[in-house]
Amino acid sequence: MKIVMVMVATLNGKITKRDDPDIYKWTSREDQTYFFSLLKKSRLIVMGSKTYEAARKNIKLTNNTLRIVLTKNPMEYRKDFVPGKLEFTNELPRQLVKRLDACGYEKMLLVGGGVLNAAFLKAGLVNEVHLTLEPKIFGAGKPFVGDNEFECSLKLISIKRLNTQGTLLLRYKIGD
Ligand SMILES: NC(=O)c1ccc[n+]([C@@H]2O[C@H](COP(=O)([O-])OP(=O)(O)OC[C@H]3O[C@@H](n4cnc5c(N)ncnc54)[C@H](OP(=O)(O)O)[C@@H]3O)[C@@H](O)[C@H]2O)c1
Repeated sequence: MKIVMVMVATLNGKITKRDDPDIYKWTSREDQTYFFSLLKKSRLIVMGSKTYEAARKNIKLTNNTLRIVLTKNPMEYRKDFVPGKLEFTNELPRQLVKRLDACGYEKMLLVGGGVLNAAFLKAGLVNEVHLTLEPKIFGAGKPFVGDNEFECSLKLISIKRLNTQGTLLLRYKIGD
């Protein structure tokens, strides 16, 4: 399965402004258009529980898209569970990918946040990173990749300027 991580960050790698979970207060319209076009095309979207909590009021479940939320406590979310559309799991990233591979999924959109990103990168599961850089610097905020012990090299696939302000969409593949 191809796993694509899609994120928007400031120049200094912050994915939130301080602790405010509403990223749409500072991300550009052009990035939002790009992100929502990817979401619309995806049959499989995976996120961490903190990202789910930030996004839940905006999530519109559809018949042909499965959203999976990673949490150590899936039972806490049992009221939100909608089989085939919105599921909660405490599987390890590698186990989860293996199971979904066997179900026939060919592509996963990994939509954050930083803690989950780190777990997938550390497990060597990510194939591409699509990172929008907004021309902003926040002194405080959550990181694009949470603290974890690993490193990886990436190779640029494309770079696109999205607006006059200088929002950049960078697409990388993992590896040399
Ligand atoms: N700028 C962007 O592109 C972007 C994208 C996404 C999110 N965000 C923002 O980022 C914030 C959330 O990011 P975050 O880094 O704090 O959290 P996160 O990665 O969204 O979620 C972390 C939580 O996910 C669960 N989790 C992560 N890895 C797991 C694993 N391997 N196994 C089981 N559970 C696992 C744990 O949930 P439990 O604690 O439930 O066990 C963990 O506390 C939100 O404010 C959101 O708005 C920004």
